[in-house]
Amino acid sequence: MPTVEHPLFSRVWSWAMRHEPRDVVRARGELLQGLSGRVLEVGAGTGSNFAHYPETVTEIVAIEPDRLLREEATVVAAARETAVPGTRIHVRDGTFEALPADAAGPFDAVVCSLVLCSVADVPGSLASAYAALRPGGQLRYYEHVATDGWLGGLQRTVDATFWPRAFGGCHTHRDTVGAIDRAGFERIQHRDIRGAPRWAPVPISPLALGIAQRPA
Ligand SMILES: C[S@@+](CC[C@H](N)C(=O)[O-])C[C@H]1O[C@@H](n2cnc3c(N)ncnc32)[C@H](O)[C@@H]1O
Repeated sequence: MPTVEHPLFSRVWSWAMRHEPRDVVRARGELLQGLSGRVLEVGAGTGSNFAHYPETVTEIVAIEPDRLLREEATVVAAARETAVPGTRIHVRDGTFEALPADAAGPFDAVVCSLVLCSVADVPGSLASAYAALRPGGQLRYYEHVATDGWLGGLQRTVDATFWPRAFGGCHTHRDTVGAIDRAGFERIQHRDIRGAPRWAPVPISPLALGIAQRPA
């Protein structure tokens, strides 16, 4: 099975998740609001989204390829199952491009947050999401995206130099919303967010938080 391991980045990410800014926590709630039924979350990290699912979500299959992050997600999943007894969370190894057999659909929603920047194959990952959804099911995404102007130039520069190696394969200049469109999703709607203060030239600061639907 193909896997993804970034031991140094995982440790940094694990720390960062214990010090998450309040607006990112709020965005997670917005990302997941109104969901119900069976959900597939891919690249679940330490399970930072689990506490934000509405109680109407009864089953979550959470895919995480990195061992260290997966172990943390497993602990967080157990805490959520105890807090909300009607919820089952199955944390599994695997990648977006090659989902494991227990991620077989159909799912009511596929969730990805801050993941499509890091996958090796964006069209392949979105094809997996599409195939896992029931007709009419939703892709919920919270992703940082390419922009233009000087910040876009900075994104291209960091992508070509140190950024992917320093941050677990992350690419800052991806046209993620365009890729979602090209993957066959419809009714794509998102709001643009600046993740960092305007004065901070952080190349991951332009974010898109949205919903796209597999045609019914
Ligand atoms: C920046 S972290 C985001 C974690 C989590 N989704 C969150 O919102 O906190 C990126 C995550 O994507 C995972 N990842 C990287 N490549 C992946 C792939 N090809 N398939 C699935 N997950 C992947 C990493 O292991 C990591 O957990």
